[in-house]
Amino acid sequence: MSYFEIVGGKKLNGEIEVKGAKNAALKAVAAALLSKEKWTITNFPFIEDTNRILEMVEDLGVKVVRGDNQVEIEARFIKKNSLDKKLTQKLRASIILAGPMLARTGKVEMYHPGGCVIGKRPIDMFLDGFQKMGAKFRQREDEFVLSARKLSGTNIFFPKISVTGTETMMMTAVLAEGETILENAAMEPEIPMLAEFLNKCGAKISGAGTSTIKIIGVKKIRGGKIELIPDRIETGTFAILGALAGGRIKIKRCNPDHVRSLLVKMEKAGVKFEERENELIVWGTKKMISVDISTHEYPGFATDLQPPFTLLMTQAKGTSLVHDSIFDGRLMFTEALNLMGANVTMNDPHRVTVNGPAKLHGRKIASPDLRAGITLVLAGLIAEGKTRIENIYQIDRGYEKIEERLQKLGADIKRINSKS
Ligand code: EPU
Repeated sequence: MSYFEIVGGKKLNGEIEVKGAKNAALKAVAAALLSKEKWTITNFPFIEDTNRILEMVEDLGVKVVRGDNQVEIEARFIKKNSLDKKLTQKLRASIILAGPMLARTGKVEMYHPGGCVIGKRPIDMFLDGFQKMGAKFRQREDEFVLSARKLSGTNIFFPKISVTGTETMMMTAVLAEGETILENAAMEPEIPMLAEFLNKCGAKISGAGTSTIKIIGVKKIRGGKIELIPDRIETGTFAILGALAGGRIKIKRCNPDHVRSLLVKMEKAGVKFEERENELIVWGTKKMISVDISTHEYPGFATDLQPPFTLLMTQAKGTSLVHDSIFDGRLMFTEALNLMGANVTMNDPHRVTVNGPAKLHGRKIASPDLRAGITLVLAGLIAEGKTRIENIYQIDRGYEKIEERLQKLGADIKRINSKS
């Protein structure tokens, strides 16, 4: 199994480019199934999660051509109704394929998407939404079947704000008959990006990016070219890295507006940064003060940035309360930070208290999930001595060639490929 070996304490300087957004790429691949014509998706990140979803659509008989930072998808034919079991269970986001498949072929058979260490990830709102649009639902143990001769527009009020739930129902409604209204919809920037592109291809969606989205069904979606927005979670993670380990780090090809809630907190904590068009420059500081955060749906503080921010607070003076309101397993990784010397107390599964500043020491640790994994990399980069991070598949799920990009900033990080 491969692992990262990091020698901490180097001051980082230079430039790092943000890749296309993982969570936009996954949905764009799913949306491509709505059209029989070719979709070209540019600024495409080739990471484990996007590779898995491309394999899943290839398994359905869809033509996929991988290029340099781009992918072409042509779903002229969808030859199967069932999603590959192994791949589905590896990628929670595979549920987003269900809507477009149902809309195109009238049937989808799939296993419950993979469990996830960040907490309970139910799919009840997806299943309710499909049924409201007229689909029949049958379940055999952990496999389920959805079928619909025709999907009809409907009104859906999400009892809880869900990013993939909003995207899935929006995509499904595009080819349904009549009008669909989604209320209490998620507002993450990936959603208006997808709606804008679908509209260019013939869809009729209004209100994406607000909490009420209206979709008027159409008969056909054309082909086209979509450029993915920069990954806001990479942007935020690199900004936190700059505060922790810069020197001066220039983050290129990003949209600072998409990480506004993080920047507000960083400023309060005493971090110096400068915003430019599509760029963010962050200076390292040893004089941070603690601030509290509570995660929230967009435009609030992203739960995906909670782990690196919690690490940032281990280096700030004072006590901060970190509240992850979205997922109930996302603070478990703080045990690993404590092993490295941090002083974090778990109050309940959604809340920790961080006392800082604490000196971190290199350790052998395993990456529990994607966002905790990259946080442990950041922790290794500021710790004294050597850190070994195992289970780096989790990190490769979301960050393309991360060690090479960090090395360019001066980080001492190596990927070691070991057979055992
Ligand atoms: N929920 C339900 N029922 C459902 C669906 C969701 O109760 O049918 C609950 C969840 O359990 C959670 C809340 O609703 O408590 C919000 O979850 P949401 O559905 O918004 O999460 P998601 O769409 O599965 C996406 C991102 C996550 C990100 C969250 C929150 C993708 C593929 N994933 O997940 O990204 O953390 O939104 O912003 O877009 C990551 O990239 O590391 C990641 C986990």
